[in-house]
Amino acid sequence: MSEEPHSTTILGRLNRLRNWLSLAGMVLCASAVFAFVLLVAVDLFATHANPYMGILAYVVAPMFFFMGLGLVVLGYFLESRRIRKGVPRKEGGLVLSVDLSRKRDRQMMAAFVLGSIGFLLLTAFGSYETYHLMESNTFCGQACHTPMEPQFSAHQHSAHAQVDCVACHIGPGTTAYIRTKLNGVKQLYHQIRGDFNRPIRILNPNLRLAQETCQTCHWSQKHFGDVPKTFKRFLADEENTPFTVQMLLKVGGSDPVRGPVEGIHSHMNVSNKIEFIHSDDERLEIPWVRVTDADGKVTEYRTEGFTDDISKHQIRTMDCMDCHNRPAHEFLSPNDAVDQALATGRIDPSIPWAKKNVVTALAAPYSTREEAQQKIEEFLRAEYPDDKRVDALIAEAKKIYATNFFPEMKADWRAHPDHIGHKDTNGCFRCHDGTHFASDGKTTIKGSDCNACHIITAQGAGEELEKVNLKGHDFFHLDSEYLEPNCAECHNGQIQEE
Ligand code: HEC
Ligand code: HEC
Ligand code: HEC
Ligand code: HEC
Ligand code: HEC
Ligand code: HEC
Repeated sequence: MSEEPHSTTILGRLNRLRNWLSLAGMVLCASAVFAFVLLVAVDLFATHANPYMGILAYVVAPMFFFMGLGLVVLGYFLESRRIRKGVPRKEGGLVLSVDLSRKRDRQMMAAFVLGSIGFLLLTAFGSYETYHLMESNTFCGQACHTPMEPQFSAHQHSAHAQVDCVACHIGPGTTAYIRTKLNGVKQLYHQIRGDFNRPIRILNPNLRLAQETCQTCHWSQKHFGDVPKTFKRFLADEENTPFTVQMLLKVGGSDPVRGPVEGIHSHMNVSNKIEFIHSDDERLEIPWVRVTDADGKVTEYRTEGFTDDISKHQIRTMDCMDCHNRPAHEFLSPNDAVDQALATGRIDPSIPWAKKNVVTALAAPYSTREEAQQKIEEFLRAEYPDDKRVDALIAEAKKIYATNFFPEMKADWRAHPDHIGHKDTNGCFRCHDGTHFASDGKTTIKGSDCNACHIITAQGAGEELEKVNLKGHDFFHLDSEYLEPNCAECHNGQIQEE
């Protein structure tokens, strides 16, 4: 066994790998392959795949593999050099020469084998633990701190706070699986380079969420019927005058077996199909819409100026996300956030001009959170020099800012408008604003009058609010009946100038 392997034959060269360094390298390589296979297997059998597993399996494991390979090669060269120089093998030196008839060699061999097995087990344990860490919401939202912080934070205040990121963000099927893996690796690359987009948007249609994802928990056949909803608003006047709107939202349903196909959820792709073309990434401009009803009858609607040949456009089928686009990451507008704080008493409504001042402070442009916190405080302190309640007001304003505004990522209500409703952004009025016409040039999309989606059962404040009308009030806007169709022409989540 201790014969010098001088020969340059293949066997002779292979013999040069018989050194401790190369052997350790081989163990490292084997562990990396083992970890890779294990990770892929665990991920395949997991309830939902982990987007960042790709980083472990395709980046970290290969890194160890190449490190091992490096050791193997290094050992080979050191051994070749020794042979070239004619240096004899040292007892217990770098060179591996095992003679199993010797007790010492047997002990060393046993220690090496046991050590390797231990190392392999540690690798398995380590990669499995890392895998679980990477699956957690903490990893999604915090390990990659700056880029995902807005979505992580908003998620914690949403109806889906208990739903894991991966339950929504990884679609069903193998292609979605592979795509998310590759995308996880790409995200790591951009995170390291710091060149991710601000704000982050999911624009790649392949990575956008699919209706099937929501349907793993929600049943689109469910009939909701009428759902009561109350909006507690406050005017931007000295008294912060309350103005409440109570309505029944006609959420309805779309499965004829469970109730009439009616209302808002009638476009759920059960009894009819709605398709559209959007001319911008945010899907704010929708110039063309097509409905196919249960009998197969097709109706197309277009806005007046839109004469394009539709075959040149990508047609999208409407799904949950075209209305519920912020189910887990709603960034409240300054107006909504302050109304909520006033309604719950977190801001004292008896502080004169509280609504107007806090909204103004929140809506001003800031480039960092520190700057915002400091300027919000300065602004409010200057507005209320002698009012003791200003400290509480400032604290609340800062808290609202921290939860809903992320200047470093440019993420806020402007960057991520919510399509439910129509007040601050067109939302439902992207289609239901009476400007889309069928081929006769007269018929518009059904459901575009004020009582189609909801009836206002009560509105105003005090005695006014007690006048309940189950047939529906006309909306009484400030001091007159409402006439203009588009709310978002004036409302944008900040203070309205009259
Ligand atoms: C209930 C489902 C759901 C859960 C849970 C969820 N998201 Fe989202 N997420 C969405 C939807 C819907 C969008 C918007 C997609 C679109 O606009 O097409 C989105 C968008 C995003 C975006 C793109 C930026 C944006 O705001 O549009 C990021 C980043 C993101 N989510 C991260 C996360 C993280 C991190 C978690 C866990 C802390 C998480 N999501 C949990 C549904 C979810
Ligand atoms: C893993 C399960 C799960 C998935 C996936 C899921 N949801 Fe939910 N969703 C829930 C639960 C649970 C609630 C109820 C929370 C509560 O009321 O406590 C909920 C509530 C809601 C609500 C009512 C919100 C409110 O403010 O009351 C809407 C709307 C909704 N989900 C839409 C969606 C959409 C759209 C998707 C797909 C992007 C989705 N969900 C995906 C579990 C899920
Ligand atoms: C046309 C727009 C639209 C589409 C498409 C749509 N929804 Fe809704 N959905 C609404 C509106 C509006 C409400 C009323 C609740 C509100 O305003 O907060 C609602 C309410 C809900 C609620 C809560 C009902 C409650 O208890 O108050 C759930 C859950 C829900 N939708 C899930 C879904 C899912 C899942 C899909 C896709 C299969 C979907 N919706 C498609 C507009 C839509
Ligand atoms: C992409 C365009 C589009 C968007 C966005 C949209 N809808 Fe619709 N909606 C339609 C079309 C098309 C119909 C079918 C009308 C028809 O058959 O003429 C419809 C039908 C309806 C109906 C049934 C009307 C009836 O009398 O049968 C209601 C209610 C409704 N939508 C509410 C909403 C609400 C609420 C929103 C916002 C959360 C919304 N829609 C967003 C296109 C849209
Ligand atoms: C296509 C359906 C649809 C039509 C048409 C529609 N609305 Fe709405 N409206 C909604 C939905 C959905 C909401 C609830 C938004 C939410 O849950 O945040 C809403 C909310 C409101 C609110 C409460 C807003 C707030 O944030 O305080 C008022 C007021 C209102 N609508 C008035 C009107 C008036 C007036 C008209 C006629 C010009 C009208 N709506 C037409 C769907 C519609
Ligand atoms: C011509 C401009 C204009 C249009 C269009 C308009 N509003 Fe307003 N709205 C105002 C002004 C100005 C105020 C008073 C602002 C204040 O005191 O906070 C106001 C106040 C309100 C308030 C109470 C305070 C608040 O900010 O929430 C509600 C609710 C409201 N409008 C809903 C609507 C709805 C819903 C629509 C569309 C159907 C609409 N408005 C269209 C100008 C407009």
